Amino acid sequence: MKMPSSSATELTKPELKHFLTTQDYTRQELTDILELMSMFKEARKANAVPQLFAGKSVAMIFEQPSTRTRVSFETAATILGGGALFLSPKDIHLGAKESLSDTGRVLSRMCDVIMARVDDHKTVAGLAEYSTVPVINGLCDWLHPTQIMADLFTMQEHLPAGKKLEDLTVAFVGDATNVCSSLMFACTKFGMHYKHIGPSKYQAPEMWQEIARENIKLSNGKLTVTDNIEEVEGCDIIIADSFYWFGQEAEKEERLSTFMPTYVVTEEMMAKAGENSIFMHCLPANDQRECTREVMEGPHSVIFDEAENRLTAQMALLVYLTHKSIKKPTEETLAYHKDRIESFLSRV
Ligand code: CP
Repeated sequence: MKMPSSSATELTKPELKHFLTTQDYTRQELTDILELMSMFKEARKANAVPQLFAGKSVAMIFEQPSTRTRVSFETAATILGGGALFLSPKDIHLGAKESLSDTGRVLSRMCDVIMARVDDHKTVAGLAEYSTVPVINGLCDWLHPTQIMADLFTMQEHLPAGKKLEDLTVAFVGDATNVCSSLMFACTKFGMHYKHIGPSKYQAPEMWQEIARENIKLSNGKLTVTDNIEEVEGCDIIIADSFYWFGQEAEKEERLSTFMPTYVVTEEMMAKAGENSIFMHCLPANDQRECTREVMEGPHSVIFDEAENRLTAQMALLVYLTHKSIKKPTEETLAYHKDRIESFLSRV
């Protein structure tokens, strides 16, 4: 007897789309996700989030620690009626006893989305190659696209009077981190002026700038990469990030002495940007290193709105990526299976 697939979702999905980088999405598609985020945020405030992930699950692989990404995905799945599985490398066989291709295919047979935070982009890309459900990049060595959906949404919530996203000048101050790259790609795609301001040794590599310049051809945005901290003047948004990350501990002293004090975001720097400028940081922040506690707690800061919007983004992403492939059974189908199973159980 030929058995039907045991997968919770269809295995053949021409519409399957992963979320590895915002570069795989058009400006219109990203705008649609932002609009969906807005609707989910309002629905959550009203405690009326539609159960569009009911009975579904997201497998979450974490090769690195996380507070926001883990909690936001887990909470988003729960609020939408589904569930999330936390899988650390020490709990699963990935990369040790089992290949990426096998892990990707096995998780696809049981879960509806795979989210992975990985040391190396090749791992999340490899999972996507073999998975038959959407794979989301929850941060890798050079990208952090789900953070950037939260950041774009936060910018939209705090737009200066009379401005649209494409009118913004955004200054990312500090190291060329995965947040710096992802913001560079998204901001230039939306037609903004994106400035990476940092010491020359730690500036955005040419490959990233090339991607941004391609975006600018379509969007009329602008890119500036400079070590001149005076470039913060007049910027609408100032963004900070860590001066070193996991795997860079050995470079800590050199990095700190290169970045500090010039590239530390202070109240003086925010004042130079302008009275109405806003301060963003993906968190976790090392206060008194890349930014002062005064700035984090001050009138320019929107860092906790930004953190909350990680949840807003994950709700929208889980639904956006799965809504076409998740079957919606009719009442008749539900009744058929319920009766059949209950009838069988009454006999055993
Ligand atoms: N911003 C961010 O990704 O936070 P976590 O490392 O806590 O997930």
